[in-house]
Amino acid sequence: MVRTDPSRPHLKSQEELLPPRGIYGGNTKRGKLVALLRGYFASPVIATLGEMGMVERMMEGDFSESDWESTHRVEIISAMFRYLYSIGLLMKRTTGEYALTPDGRTSLGRNGAFSLLMSYAEYFHELPTMLTARGAKPSVNRRRNVRGSGQLHGKKFFPAAFDFFSSSAPTAIIDLGCGDGRFLALARERWTDLAIFGVDLSETAVEQTRMRLSPMIGSRRVAAVANGYDVAVWSEAVPENVRRSPQLVISMWFVGHEFSEGSAEKMVAFFSEVYERCPQAKVILGEINNIPAEILAEDHDLSIMPEFLLFHDLSGQGVLSWNMWLGILNKIPYILKADRRFDEVRSSSGEQIPASFIWLLEPKAPTLR
Ligand SMILES: C[S@@+](CC[C@H](N)C(=O)[O-])C[C@H]1O[C@@H](n2cnc3c(N)ncnc32)[C@H](O)[C@@H]1O
Repeated sequence: MVRTDPSRPHLKSQEELLPPRGIYGGNTKRGKLVALLRGYFASPVIATLGEMGMVERMMEGDFSESDWESTHRVEIISAMFRYLYSIGLLMKRTTGEYALTPDGRTSLGRNGAFSLLMSYAEYFHELPTMLTARGAKPSVNRRRNVRGSGQLHGKKFFPAAFDFFSSSAPTAIIDLGCGDGRFLALARERWTDLAIFGVDLSETAVEQTRMRLSPMIGSRRVAAVANGYDVAVWSEAVPENVRRSPQLVISMWFVGHEFSEGSAEKMVAFFSEVYERCPQAKVILGEINNIPAEILAEDHDLSIMPEFLLFHDLSGQGVLSWNMWLGILNKIPYILKADRRFDEVRSSSGEQIPASFIWLLEPKAPTLR
């Protein structure tokens, strides 16, 4: 009950004058419209703060523009901070310094997800041309792409894979589609004698991987440019001590759909060849699933999968469905030893479908193939 002093008119606090926050945002028509529009500006701001290494400092405690005055243009940082303050991701201290709000900590902590989406920006700028001209050839910003996926996957997926090996450490890892080399770096920090090698189609990715890993192992022979699908080619590029290592693991994080062309048969052929060339190797497979739009539509407010599937579609990547993966599993010379499923959704028939998953595959004994 609100008690008023009869001698003074009751002044409502600012908080009482405002409608509850949910009325402004969330599920209202206006809130949805604002959220849709906001992503366009918030994404490059958050991605850039992450890419310039500023988020780490912001996570540590209070900060102000002047913390970066020797390296960056203060007026641009001021505008970015004012914007983030006005959308509730920063708060301002009485000293004039900023700090992250809880929402800010969550969003800026996931800056890699923003970089990953932004790496496909050219496809969206070119959308009018893509609609009308077959010749339009936008490309992914690979530097942004590998940094973004490394940061995102390093938080969400890589630790889960390490849990698979709590009782049997690998002696070597070949990472196909190694991106910025973050998975191999984390693995090597964990298992210090681990032999490592990265393979990626992109020279930018291989260079990033070398920059990250060469100081760790004292050699630039840590990664090679090759198509992950060409098993014969990359397996020749891998140093002998890695390829013949007894507890070899081949990891493939979100790269299968880059070369699958949407074909389960192609993936079956790929796994069969990996088995031929590296018969002792276990395989870590991290993938996203092509979830039907009608399922995504049911829960779209809580999932970024519509955006992920859109940029995969526009850039011609062959994301497979969960059922296709289950079919592949039946046809390859591997057994499923462990799995983790992420962000499950329910299909119309009541089946749980993970938006993404990790499998640990173990080679079948030759007699069981
Ligand atoms: C989504 S990123 C994932 C990077 C890294 N695996 C991670 O999880 O952070 C996909 C990576 O696959 C690479 N890639 C694309 N097609 C490839 C192919 N055919 N063979 C090898 N790498 C490929 C890209 O250059 C990029 O580094």
